[in-house]
Amino acid sequence: MTQFGRNNVPFTDLDPDHVSRPDLNPYLRLHREMGPPVLIAEEAKALRGRWGEAFAKPQPLQVEIGPGNGFFLAGMAAKHPEQNWVGVEIRFKRVVLCAKKINALGVGGNARIARYDAWWLEDLFEPGAVAGLYVNHPDPWAKDSDEKKRLMSPHFAAWAAEAMAPGALLRLKSDHLNNLDALQAAAAAQPFDLLGRVEDIEHNGTPWPVEDDVITNYQSKFIKRKLPVHALWLRRR
Ligand SMILES: C[S@@+](CC[C@H](N)C(=O)[O-])C[C@H]1O[C@@H](n2cnc3c(N)ncnc32)[C@H](O)[C@@H]1O
Repeated sequence: MTQFGRNNVPFTDLDPDHVSRPDLNPYLRLHREMGPPVLIAEEAKALRGRWGEAFAKPQPLQVEIGPGNGFFLAGMAAKHPEQNWVGVEIRFKRVVLCAKKINALGVGGNARIARYDAWWLEDLFEPGAVAGLYVNHPDPWAKDSDEKKRLMSPHFAAWAAEAMAPGALLRLKSDHLNNLDALQAAAAAQPFDLLGRVEDIEHNGTPWPVEDDVITNYQSKFIKRKLPVHALWLRRR
């Protein structure tokens, strides 16, 4: 079950339902059985402080939050074999789809998909571990009443400030301007510089080099419907 908002129960795959009731979701068992590039929650947690061991070679670590079916994660890993890429995704089915995408593009040496809850990212990444951070179309499609559930929050900005190395870049793409506003405001209280903010990137261009990007699954849906997607670009001081 997708969770929105941080509750006080630490995140784990080893809760009784997940172990004893794999019939609850066929992708639950599948994601456990796949092996690399999938990292089940406990494997991902065990890599804190030694992420280099998860990949063919130790390289700067790029992290995508909520990669969904993995178009962006696998595509960027293919563009950047000199970097290691890990996605953090909570839904079992999307973990499996993302793993299939990684395998299809042959980027299993430098891409991994971890099943974890992004409200608990400090479990996975030690301070300074993250060389680049990407969030594409984060859930939820917030209503005002969802404010506490919005991952783009002071909690997220504080985590990012600690986990990102000095000079590391953070990119957000979203169809929802509230997500940009929320992250921009939260980042202002942390050691981040604003590198760019563009509303409607289809018409106004991305703040980062366009060739250094991959259109995500959700982004392509918005493009098809002629709805704008926006971008925010930050640098950890
Ligand atoms: C709207 S989809 C966007 C997927 C993809 N990034 C894209 O742009 O096509 C949001 C993704 O975030 C994932 N997600 C939502 N809450 C999460 C959480 N707490 N931890 C990790 N992933 C989460 C969802 O399962 C989903 O795959």
